Amino acid sequence: MTTERAADNQGMSHEKVLIVEDEENERTGLAELVSSWGYRTETARDGLEGLEKAAQWTPSIVVTDLKMPRMGGIELLERLAEQTQAMAVILVTAQGTIDSAVQAMRLGAYDYITKPIDTQRLRAMLQNASALLGTRAELESTRRRLRDSGSLGQLRGTSRKMQEIFRLIELVAPSTASVLITGASGTGKELVARTIHQLSPRRDRPFVAINCAAIPETLIESEIFGHEKGAFTGALERRTGCFELAEGGTILLDEIGEMPVGTQAKLLRVLEDHKLRRLGSKVETTVDVRVLAATNKVPDDAVASGELRSDLYYRLNVFNIHMPPLREHKEDIADLVQLLLSEMSAKHNRKTVAISEAVLNLFNNYTWPGNVRELRNTIERAVIVCDGGMIETKHLPPGFGHTILRTSANDPDAIRLGVGTTVGEAEKMLILKTLESTSNNKTRAAEILGISLKTLHNKLKEYGSSTGDADPGKEEQTQ
Ligand SMILES: Nc1ncnc2c1ncn2[C@@H]1O[C@H](COP(=O)(O)OP(=O)(O)OP(=O)(O)O)[C@@H](O)[C@H]1O
Ligand SMILES: [Mg+2]
Repeated sequence: MTTERAADNQGMSHEKVLIVEDEENERTGLAELVSSWGYRTETARDGLEGLEKAAQWTPSIVVTDLKMPRMGGIELLERLAEQTQAMAVILVTAQGTIDSAVQAMRLGAYDYITKPIDTQRLRAMLQNASALLGTRAELESTRRRLRDSGSLGQLRGTSRKMQEIFRLIELVAPSTASVLITGASGTGKELVARTIHQLSPRRDRPFVAINCAAIPETLIESEIFGHEKGAFTGALERRTGCFELAEGGTILLDEIGEMPVGTQAKLLRVLEDHKLRRLGSKVETTVDVRVLAATNKVPDDAVASGELRSDLYYRLNVFNIHMPPLREHKEDIADLVQLLLSEMSAKHNRKTVAISEAVLNLFNNYTWPGNVRELRNTIERAVIVCDGGMIETKHLPPGFGHTILRTSANDPDAIRLGVGTTVGEAEKMLILKTLESTSNNKTRAAEILGISLKTLHNKLKEYGSSTGDADPGKEEQTQ
């Protein structure tokens, strides 16, 4: 009987899998199952024994239980991470211990699976982990190819802030962990998502981006989950949803804060069980998709206002990558300009060579509320308008750089300043007026004003303003 064990593993890898589980029946059962798929297995009774076996036997994959005497799965994961040999660690968690699952992913686990173990899913996970190990060298060379001193793929930036973003992307890319990408509009969130996909073992599979803000509420579920013919009036044909289209790859749920709350509940189920049901279907489909999400809202605020379910937020925010506004990494402007100049000159068939000192100066002093996208649009327009040669200030949109202090008296956003106003008073008026125009959204106001949120809070405190809030850290995001 044992001789034919390997029957269904023709061509399978001979990867070594260490199984760490304190409960004897589960341990032997799991070991037999995994060997029947063609893996070489060893077992250990707890984390401590697991650590010893891992050191001697050097498995490439470790499947470990969470709660065990002497040393649990999380500590084992941490200790394995200190070792030189890279191992893919899969955590087995009890249902309802999502906390530990999220923690495990943050600590660098490859993936996790809940008890009772769905064997098909475990099998797929082991296959993917083996594939990852197989492509590790290849991924490393992709990473080297995509990375040079000032860029990662299409992302550019030599500033400390962008370099930190590159480091985070390289760190999270190889696993299946969800990543929540936050930051203001036009800061490069979608580009970050694409780069994560490119640097992951899923890169040869589809990357599907869906913008939740652009789809009418009535259609969003069928867009994401798909529907059967006749599922609702107008469903004339069966439709494959984004999740199924992204099978084996990565999905980006853009503007996640705009997703209807009911749909968020369904999404949470997919994240937890990797199963979904097309609208109008009775059967569930298993999907293997890595989920990335992006939002230009402050997630804590969206949760507080009920737009974003807190459990979904928690589940997506295994890692957070927060994109800085362009004015916080102005050092990158010159480089970005070069990149965009060549892109736009090629796109529009122009021989633009450079921008003038004066233009670069203006760019460096502007607050860029629309961030890199605004810079991109500005360059595109200038390249077209200038029609070859040097871009001068006259090729910029009229009034470029003057966004707040407008002159028209009947503009409700305009501020009238009489001679005799002190600079301090003018500053106070500008700050309060900006706050008013953002309905007291301090993050946004600080962005428009081109100052940090902290500075804004300090100013408000100084004014003893009633708009200052008791919890100055509230709108700040953590990495
Ligand atoms: N660091 C960067 N290097 C090069 N190009 C960038 C960078 N950041 C952004 N871009 C470019 O700026 C434009 C906007 O980026 P992207 O669409 O990723 O922003 P976003 O944060 O998703 O914006 P929104 O919130 O409006 O959807 C794109 O054309 C993108 O290629
Ligand atoms: Mg976007």
